[in-house]
Amino acid sequence: MEYLRLSLFLCMLSLSATSPSSFASPNSIRADYAVNLNATNFDAVLNDTPATFALVQFYAHWCPACRNYKPHYEKVARLFNEPDAVHPGIILITRVDCGLKINTKLCDKFSADHYPMLFWGSPSKFVGGGWEPKQEKSDIRVIVGARTADRLLDWINKQIGSSFGLDDQKFQNKLPSSNDSDTVQIARAIYDDVEEVTSTGFDIIIEHQELVLHL
Ligand SMILES: *[C@@H]1O[C@H](CO)[C@@H](O)[C@H](O)[C@H]1NC(C)=O
Ligand SMILES: *[C@@H]1O[C@H](CO)[C@@H](O)[C@H](O)[C@H]1NC(C)=O
Repeated sequence: MEYLRLSLFLCMLSLSATSPSSFASPNSIRADYAVNLNATNFDAVLNDTPATFALVQFYAHWCPACRNYKPHYEKVARLFNEPDAVHPGIILITRVDCGLKINTKLCDKFSADHYPMLFWGSPSKFVGGGWEPKQEKSDIRVIVGARTADRLLDWINKQIGSSFGLDDQKFQNKLPSSNDSDTVQIARAIYDDVEEVTSTGFDIIIEHQELVLHL
């Protein structure tokens, strides 16, 4: 039995090593992971998102500080946006261009008077919502001091008690606990022929990782 478990683990290792979908491929790095919102779709997108949190950046396309900030923001958005992101479904990362006339009213509602300006909250709180500097209590928070991708992710981690990293890869997060990674599913299919898979079985495999790697 122990032998089967060890060989399954070796099998999982080799599957994951050859399966490109287990890793964030460098070819998939794009420049527009953040979702562009405008006055027309703002409420609808935030209303429909399954994400628990939303990050909304008000910026202006003509603002140099915003252009410099874009790659930082995108590095963080890459982790969360889209169903095949490293950490999907938790945070929806968006931006609104206040340099476009159609967004003037929307930007005014959030008192966006400097760019970029970042807000955080539950998506539903943004729907039909707004923000004022003198408001005592608000469900929407302004994010300050998040000038780099690292600092923005730190802010998020502190806010929700997470430990996301900019270099997180899909594979690391999925192997031990998730049901939907290719690796686990394939391993399960193989293992089902041998015995019923239990989470204990997987724990044992993980425990033997060191041992297997040193064989
Ligand atoms: C608002 O954004 C949506 C989605 O990106 C786009 O289809 C639409 O054309 C935009 N509206 C305006 C007025 O720019
Ligand atoms: C994993 O998938 C199986 C079968 O598809 C399901 O019965 C089980 O509840 C899932 N477990 C978790 C933790 O999602």
